[in-house]
Amino acid sequence: MKKILVTGGAGFIGSNFINYILKTRKDVFIVNLDKLTYAGNLKNLTGVENHPNYTFIKGDIVNDELVRYIFQKYRITHVINFAAESHVDRSILGSEIFFRTNVLGTNILLETAKYFGIEKFVQISTDEVYGSLGPEGQFEETTPLQPNSPYAASKAAADMMALAFHHTYGVPVVITRCSNNYGQYQFPEKLIPLLIINSLNDQKLPVYGDGLYVRDWIYVIDHNKAVELVLDEGKIGEVYNVGANTEKRNIEIVKLVLKQLGKSEELIEFVKDRPGHDRRYAINSKKIKKQLGWEPDYSFENAMRDTINWYIKNEKWWKEIISGEYINYYKLQYQA
Ligand code: NAD
Ligand code: DAU
Repeated sequence: MKKILVTGGAGFIGSNFINYILKTRKDVFIVNLDKLTYAGNLKNLTGVENHPNYTFIKGDIVNDELVRYIFQKYRITHVINFAAESHVDRSILGSEIFFRTNVLGTNILLETAKYFGIEKFVQISTDEVYGSLGPEGQFEETTPLQPNSPYAASKAAADMMALAFHHTYGVPVVITRCSNNYGQYQFPEKLIPLLIINSLNDQKLPVYGDGLYVRDWIYVIDHNKAVELVLDEGKIGEVYNVGANTEKRNIEIVKLVLKQLGKSEELIEFVKDRPGHDRRYAINSKKIKKQLGWEPDYSFENAMRDTINWYIKNEKWWKEIISGEYINYYKLQYQA
């Protein structure tokens, strides 16, 4: 039985991971440590909250005493570190919390893993650590890191710390660097859910700059299947890029959402650009495909249709976020 500390499991990718893995496997026990920041939402996990192989702890990865207590109490064998401040625009407005959670928090998890000894530490990183591409080429695992936003810099620092802990102390670290995710439970500050929700509400769709920035999109389930494979079979000390070869200009995504929802392109509003905006991301995933046999299962067209339909059907989920009501859920459930 793998006893896995999943951090940030109430966020978008982490909650999808927990829902997926508890549905498909019996050989895992999950301890979900999440601070429940604005981005953490226990409503993402209502299907598993009473699962016998799951427990939730509200707490901060920067709290070293709590982290040590969890490792000891649950005899943690594996860590998957999803916890992070994840939004680039917020990091531009204020970088300190990004440094605290993404760098210091990862460092505390690594120190604790070193102290107790574990089988594997999966650090969930991002393609943004590589910086920005011109019109040609792709990021490979050997591409030098050149992070451009405070968010990306904090993730790159965490990666370097993780690799240093492997090199110096033999902590069994593996890193994944994935491209832009989309799917159910994504917080509505990110491009795709923002576009869907604004369209449904007949509100303007803000497009930064000329709208010709390129992102490489992957469905969250495909990303999580890669994380699972890396957890089981990823080679210690290695970095694996994860992406589904789906480059799209932002404006293409905007038009696709409007078309699928039958809304007018008059809702498009070009707004002031993000400072330091990376022009293009494109990720080369040959290594994980060749070494671990990973392949994405979902096409962009089908998974986007499913995602849009999910937001249509789950209006209550995002309306509670927009109203701030979701923040009270933990208190109502556990602290009454
Ligand atoms: P998210 O913002 O939706 O969720 C982050 C979660 O971490 C939240 O539940 C939050 O409460 C929790 N958290 C934040 N600070 C914490 C702390 N100090 N202690 C404990 N928990 C804390 O993020 P996401 O989009 O699900 O991203 C998850 C991970 O994947 C991040 O590490 C991110 O860098 C990485 N990533 C994201 C994408 C993407 O497109 N969203 C792509 C590649 C990599
Ligand atoms: O590449 C992986 C990264 O993808 C992750 O590491 C980050 O955690 C995740 O937030 C995401 O970062 P991006 O900055 O690429 O995602 P975001 O959804 O914020 O923006 C996607 C693109 O859309 C980007 O070019 C900026 C643009 N954009 C975004 C918003 C929110 C707009 O044009 N308008 C908007 O309102």
